[in-house]
This record gives sequence, structure tokens and C-alpha cells, in this order.
Amino acid sequence: MKRVGLLTSGGDCQALNATMRGVVKGLSSNVDELEVYGFMNGYKGLIYGDYRLLTSRDFSGILTKGGTILGSSRQPFKLMREPDEKGLDKVAAMKQNYYKLRLDCLVILGGNGTQKTANLLREEGLNIIHLPKTIDNDIWGTDMTFGFYSAVNIATEAIDCIHTTAASHNRVFIVEVMGHKVGWLTLYAGIAGGADIILIPEIPYDIKKVIAAIDRRTQAGKGFTILAVAEGAISKQDAKLSKKEYKKKLSEKKYPSVAYELAEQIREANGPEVRITVPGHTQRGGSPCPYDRVLSTRIGVTAADLIMKEEYGYMVGIVNGKMKKVPLGEVSGRLKMVDPKDQIIQEAKLMGISFGD
Ligand code: F6P
Repeated sequence: MKRVGLLTSGGDCQALNATMRGVVKGLSSNVDELEVYGFMNGYKGLIYGDYRLLTSRDFSGILTKGGTILGSSRQPFKLMREPDEKGLDKVAAMKQNYYKLRLDCLVILGGNGTQKTANLLREEGLNIIHLPKTIDNDIWGTDMTFGFYSAVNIATEAIDCIHTTAASHNRVFIVEVMGHKVGWLTLYAGIAGGADIILIPEIPYDIKKVIAAIDRRTQAGKGFTILAVAEGAISKQDAKLSKKEYKKKLSEKKYPSVAYELAEQIREANGPEVRITVPGHTQRGGSPCPYDRVLSTRIGVTAADLIMKEEYGYMVGIVNGKMKKVPLGEVSGRLKMVDPKDQIIQEAKLMGISFGD
């Protein structure tokens, strides 16, 4: 008899259900007796003992279903060691629920913060497998996270739609793309959508260079310009600020987000009409794209294989097209950022895309 716990934590994304389906189908066809416990709403369910015994029915028909059948929540890693409002020791409570159910292992689907808590639980002696979920693609040790390509599709579609209206009205459009502190999503959607300017956190921009790039297009007779801007994009000036100073600037909330600051600066400089589009959480919604369905199924089945072999303490990633088990302790707490010297950046520059640097 194998007893496996499942939980999905942090911001959701499109292929969470597809991944859990992969884990459970992979196990069911190889293990005679299996009990799967789903913890509700991320680590909350594990802390407060909110779980459900799941059956194969729960995993049927969910390959294409976005969101997560288990629900999710954000439980910051930095607060995990702090007692809750009622003085409950969260780590002890999580361990207690794990042992109470006599789990063989806990499969945790989530991003960077989730991974840190997964690693903490590993250090506390639990059998853990982490599966890399996020539209941000910022998890170290895997080339790709599930959710990323589905979000690229949505952000690209947003840029595609903006293209036609931008051209009709001869306007400058800023499309602000998610991605937290990294630029993967903006870079891929920007290139796929034919953006003229791409601004990402890893390459701080000079506003004068951004405006010059718009002017060059205008002089070349192109009436419109499209900027794909990461929500975490930062100017060269702001990049010089200390963390504390930058946080203070953001907390003053002069602008709702970086797109609005840029829009004002562009308007002030040369007066073109500027519009902002923020696709926001639509980027995390809807069905997983075919690539993510395949990736998440592979990741899920590989996790099942590890469980059958009783190999724990790993994240399952994809490296050069092959599934790889990566020791959690080696990747936890590391962020995978875009390398400004990466080939893809050089190629984009060669074809005239400005990064404002
Ligand atoms: O990590 C995924 C992500 O969508 C980021 O791209 C974004 O910054 C953040 O989550 C938004 O978080 P929330 O859903 O809590 O607003």
C-alpha cells in the first residue's frame, strides 16, 4: 500500500491538474493499492489538517482543466517558522498531519517560495518530491516549468490583438506582462508577438533609449510601436537604488505599475498617444497548451516513478529534453533569471528589437 499526499501551493497556473493526473495515473498503473490524500489550499491544508481522500475519479477529465482541483494559497516561507495567530507551530503541525496519515511521501507542486518550504520539510525528515510550477519559468535546475508556455500563448495573443488596433490608430502601446522578478515570459511573448521594444528586469532600461527607439520607428514611417514590458522591469536609475530605497519608491505608489510610469515619460518626451494593456491574471488562466500538457504529464509520471523507487528529496525537472531528478537542497532558494548575454537576447537585438539598454 502506498500513501501519497498531494498539494498545490502559491499562484496557480494552467497545468497543475494535468501534473497531478500524471502522478496518480503513473502510480495507479504500477501500484496495486494506493491512497492519495489531497491537502486543500496549499500548505494551509497540511497545517490545519484539511485534506480529502481522492479517488481515480478525481483525476479523470482534468488534463485540460486549468486552476487546481485542490485549491491554492500563498503561505510565505519566511513566516513558516513563526507561530500562527493562535500560537500554532506550523512546521510541527505539518509534520504531525503527515505522520498521522502515515504518508510515504508528499508531492508538492509550486514555485520558488513553495519549493523553499518543501525543502524545509525535507530537512525536517519528510519524504518530499517537488514539481516545478510557474508561469514565470524562474525555477533553477529545470529548463522549463509547467504553466510557462500556456502563459506565453496568452500574453502573445494579447500582443497580437494590440497590434491591429495600434496600427489603426498610430499609437504607442505598452503591454505589461507578468513574470514577477524575471523576464522570461515577457521575452518569449515579446518575440512571439513581434514587440518592437522589450523591457525585462535583467536588463535595466534607459528611458532615453526607449524614447529614441520609438522615434526611430516614427521617422521610418511606422506609425505605431509596441512595448512588451515585464511587471518587474526597472530603469537604470532605479536599479542603482538600494533595495530599501526602491521598496520605498514603490510603496509611495505614484504609479500603479511600471507601465504607467513609462507611459507618462513617453508622453512627456514626444507626445505620441500611449495606451496601456495589462493582461494580468488571464495569463494564468484557462486550459494548458499542448506543450504544457506533455511536459506536466512527463513530470507527473517521472514523480510516480521516483515514488515507486522510494527516491525522495528531489525536484523533477526537464534538462535538454530529458526528465531529470534534481536534489532539492541544490536548487532551493535559487532564482533562474534571463542572462542578458544569452543567444536569444543577441538574436532579438540583431533583428532590431530594443531592450532599452
Ligand atoms: O508567480 C506567478 C505570478 O503570476 C507572477 O507572475 C505575479 O507577479 C504573481 O504571481 C501575482 O501574484 P498574485 O496572484 O498573488 O497577485
